[in-house]
Amino acid sequence: MGFLFALLFAGCFFFTAPFVGCSRSLLQTPQPTTALDVAEALVKTKNVISFDPTKKPAFTPLDQSFSASSPSSSPSSISLQIHPRVSIHKSSHLDYKALTLSRLQRDSARVSSLVTRLNLAVNGISRSDLKPLDTGLEFGAEDLEGPIVSGSSQGSGEYFSRVGIGKPPSQVYMVLDTGSDVNWVQCAPCADCYQQSDPIFEPSLSSSYSPLKCDTQQCKYLDDSECRNDRTCVYEVSYGDGSYTVGDFVTETITLGSDSVNNVAIGCGHNNEGLFVGAGGLLGLGGGPLSFTSQLNASSFSYCLVDRDSDSASTLEFDSSFPPNTITAPLIRNHQLDTFYYIGLTGISVGGELLPIPESAFQMDESGNGGIIVDSGTAVTRLQSDTYNVLRDAFAKGTKNLPSADSVALFDTCYNLSTKSSVDVPTLSLHFPEGKVLPLPAKNYMIPVDSVGTFCFAFAPTSSSLSIIGNVQQQGTRVGFDLGNSRVGFVPNKC
Ligand SMILES: *[C@@H]1O[C@H](CO)[C@@H](O)[C@H](O)[C@H]1NC(C)=O
Ligand SMILES: *[C@@H]1O[C@H](CO)[C@@H](O)[C@H](O)[C@H]1NC(C)=O
Repeated sequence: MGFLFALLFAGCFFFTAPFVGCSRSLLQTPQPTTALDVAEALVKTKNVISFDPTKKPAFTPLDQSFSASSPSSSPSSISLQIHPRVSIHKSSHLDYKALTLSRLQRDSARVSSLVTRLNLAVNGISRSDLKPLDTGLEFGAEDLEGPIVSGSSQGSGEYFSRVGIGKPPSQVYMVLDTGSDVNWVQCAPCADCYQQSDPIFEPSLSSSYSPLKCDTQQCKYLDDSECRNDRTCVYEVSYGDGSYTVGDFVTETITLGSDSVNNVAIGCGHNNEGLFVGAGGLLGLGGGPLSFTSQLNASSFSYCLVDRDSDSASTLEFDSSFPPNTITAPLIRNHQLDTFYYIGLTGISVGGELLPIPESAFQMDESGNGGIIVDSGTAVTRLQSDTYNVLRDAFAKGTKNLPSADSVALFDTCYNLSTKSSVDVPTLSLHFPEGKVLPLPAKNYMIPVDSVGTFCFAFAPTSSSLSIIGNVQQQGTRVGFDLGNSRVGFVPNKC
């Protein structure tokens, strides 16, 4: 611990320059414990159930404010607001426990589809082996081979942005997803559209709508894409659980805040089936050539995910630079699959003690297996079982004084904090090369699962070799991807 302190201090001393954030992380990291505000978390669990987005004036269709006040935006950067799911889609759940269980169920579907996608890429299994899909359109499944991307939960993800499609722009909420590339939006005429909060996008009313031909590079980027009648490009994104979107692959104008981008390849989905709720489509922020980020030629992007139980908003920014107090880590790519953003994690500490986890537990091997990705759409961080057990045991050891409670869904370490308003829990920090340390706020790993005081340790084991840093652990932190310099950056308390 003394060592950790020394290292941090040296880090601060070294980069003295514009140092506001340093003193904070300096004070925070050496502390063996972190306070968890139990009372505040419980108030939010009650509010989130009763919150009615339609009564909140901030979320009228006019709300697309350009966040010029954001401290990290530069004149050339593009910025738009991010809203947590609960702030635009009224919860249909009776209580917070039901909401939690449904979130966790979605999360498991998400993780298994990410893992499936990776296994397909690494093991070279043909996608057509995986799914016969009856799309209900006039062309059969054999004619369609789209990429299989992340799971159904991407369509019902936790964070949305309001995006304008076409010219003049028609506004829809789109899910933000770093775990997939293909952008898509529900499109008229609908063979099958699920319910969304905005009108369905109508291509005939847009002057910038333009179908892509089969021989275009964008169409060829769709894995194994085949074309209808050799003319226009058809995309298909299907999910492990039977949900999917199919339609024309086109170019359109996309408007974010006050900025418009022309000729963005996007799926115009006429046939959309599944668990997508609320949002009208998806903005792919992955690392592949079809993602919105890649099409924008963005050299970096960053997002901040506000507390998912809050009704506030934060921003997604493209081409804004990292502030000086950013905690950085290597951004690593998988040559078998360019979508995911892997991070060079070297260790985890609990209560200031670095856990005995071999570094290989977080490293990708030559075949493309293993490693750990940062994902906006997965909620709960997944670690290989051996690693998880070491972490969980250390945390449990440091919380022996807290009354325990039964396990809840995938959480095996829970507490009954109904009689407490605040508790101290061991500080949990992520460690990166060059002595960089990211201490997590207590509320990012001790989360309420009901409104009566049951809290659980919000990490989970996975039997896959792929580990994932989820959005629960990223809440309240600006997470940046510096694509040009291959760095991931974290700025705590910066939403
Ligand atoms: C991105 O770069 C490509 C190739 O240089 C170019 O054709 C395209 O217009 C650029 N897109 C944007 C949004 O700048
Ligand atoms: C939690 O503890 C309180 C106070 O001891 C008790 O009344 C309550 O039944 C416990 N809750 C559960 C779910 O065990």
